[in-house]
Amino acid sequence: MSDAAIKDNPVVEEVTKHDVSSVVAVAGHPIHAMLVAFPIALVLSTLGADVFFWWTGDPFWARAALWSSGFAFWLGVLASIAGTTELLLVKGIRRRAASWTHAIAAMMLMSIAGTNWGLRIDNHVEVVLPLGLFLSMLGSIFVGIAGWHGGKLVFDHGIGLMVSNND
Ligand code: HEM
Repeated sequence: MSDAAIKDNPVVEEVTKHDVSSVVAVAGHPIHAMLVAFPIALVLSTLGADVFFWWTGDPFWARAALWSSGFAFWLGVLASIAGTTELLLVKGIRRRAASWTHAIAAMMLMSIAGTNWGLRIDNHVEVVLPLGLFLSMLGSIFVGIAGWHGGKLVFDHGIGLMVSNND
């Protein structure tokens, strides 16, 4: 985009003041944004499985929660590595307070998700009520907080956008 075109548009000017393009990306599409769908869905699935276990008492749901909490945690770690790399390497991301708010919320989420999985490894049935269910509820609240702040980085701050001046 030409400098003149950027100056004509205050929104684009603000977004492009510092580089906010993703460096951990496939053809400009951030890998972090591709990965986060998995931990988000799996944290919520773990809560669903815990509620079904509470409701039915069927150990199948406790086993489902063991697996979904494990994948939620490890895929979350993978997504966090991509996100942290962007945070540290891209100036326009690093210097925004909103990026750090998102990162702190995400780290709290990952601590809860890791605890929720780790507790279940030895005895995945007895731990569900009440502690597992409580951690799944807490994790779901933090998935909302971290996801909301992650979305703000894209929709409010234009992080990862490939800005085009074409109609
Ligand atoms: C410390 C760990 C993390 C850091 C530093 C981080 C950083 C970032 C950054 C820089 C973006 C902007 C898009 C990009 O450049 O990729 C972003 C977007 C986002 N992040 Fe994270 N993130 C972390 C962990 C997580 C986790 C664990 C989740 C949820 C499970 C999450 C959910 C999101 C969402 C939903 C978006 C918006 C993506 C979109 O709408 O396309 N992040 N994050």
